[in-house]
Amino acid sequence: MHEYERILIADDISREYVVDDPIMGRVAATVVENASLALSRGQIHALVGESGSGKSTLARMLGFVIHPTSGSILLDGARQRRARPRRDVLRRVQILFQDPYGSLNPLQRLRYLIGRPLRLHGFASRRRDVEAGVSRLLESVGLLPSASFLDRRPGDLSGGQRQRVVIARALASRPDVLLADEPVSMLDVSIRLEILDLLRRLSDEQGVAVLYVTHDIASARYISDFVSVMYAGRIVEAGPVDAVIDRPLHPYTRLLVDSTPAAAPPDIGVHRVSRWAKRMSGSPPSRDSSPGCPFQPRCPAATAICAEQRPPKVARGESWAECWNPVE
Ligand SMILES: Nc1ncnc2c1ncn2[C@@H]1O[C@H](COP(=O)(O)OP(=O)(O)OP(=O)(O)O)[C@@H](O)[C@H]1O
Ligand code: SF4
Ligand SMILES: [Mg+2]
Repeated sequence: MHEYERILIADDISREYVVDDPIMGRVAATVVENASLALSRGQIHALVGESGSGKSTLARMLGFVIHPTSGSILLDGARQRRARPRRDVLRRVQILFQDPYGSLNPLQRLRYLIGRPLRLHGFASRRRDVEAGVSRLLESVGLLPSASFLDRRPGDLSGGQRQRVVIARALASRPDVLLADEPVSMLDVSIRLEILDLLRRLSDEQGVAVLYVTHDIASARYISDFVSVMYAGRIVEAGPVDAVIDRPLHPYTRLLVDSTPAAAPPDIGVHRVSRWAKRMSGSPPSRDSSPGCPFQPRCPAATAICAEQRPPKVARGESWAECWNPVE
């Protein structure tokens, strides 16, 4: 991967919240800790981890919805201001949410919903041009014939069609980056693959950089080029998808991968991290200030040092993991 291909970079970002603890009172909880990742043109980067590991918080920081407590977000190498990024920056980074039902105004027709960003960003202004632009976008997400969709409202669509509309609306802003936070998890199993294939095609054909947030390692394997594995707020392993899944370094990744059949289809939704996680002993850590590895209480490979000192970063090829005893 070449440096110039990187579009959006999280550079050592953390996010804290002040929360009420029944015993300690108001305490700072670190939800994402020193995370770094890069999204590159034409590539899909999967962010995998169990519920509560901090995936959405990281995605929302990349999308400028919330701001890092520390660290930086860089777009084309330029550090972005914490508060109120420029409008063009917001245009270039679009977010797809999990729920295609909640993210579209049910009262508006598709010609308005998708045409609005075209007008707003000055890509089209005359009625005819807006309509042509909306039709092209509907076609690009497979809603055909486009003319039959222009005057429909979200309520006249299936769940899969709505998620296609959400994607078309995001594409209307001509983004360089799509942040897709579990974009298929609320869709019927039978249409998940179609939406994943659409994301893959948009990335291949239009060069969009995609962050694909998921619980589901099988779907990460299916569409992504690169994968980062999150545990308890930290990225504990990252690398090209084949390397991470075929030869994981981190015991946590190894447990996730071993718990799913090699040929698991990406759409079945049963091989989920949260279920696999039940096979591990203990529960996910509270984000306390213990000095060692956050995975230590559950790790089958733990040794004495794991409870005492933060694990170092170890590398193999293009992959790396934070672990004292990486998988051979
Ligand atoms: N505004 C907030 N205030 C306090 N804690 C928060 C806030 N937002 C998120 N958290 C906590 O941060 C942790 C990570 O949440 P996040 O939504 O990023 O996880 P996730 O990996 O996306 O989980 P899921 O897979 O369930 O969507 C959770 O423990 C959550 O309770
Ligand atoms: S550092 Fe130790 S506890 Fe943590 S994942 Fe590696 S072996 Fe397991
Ligand atoms: Mg989430």
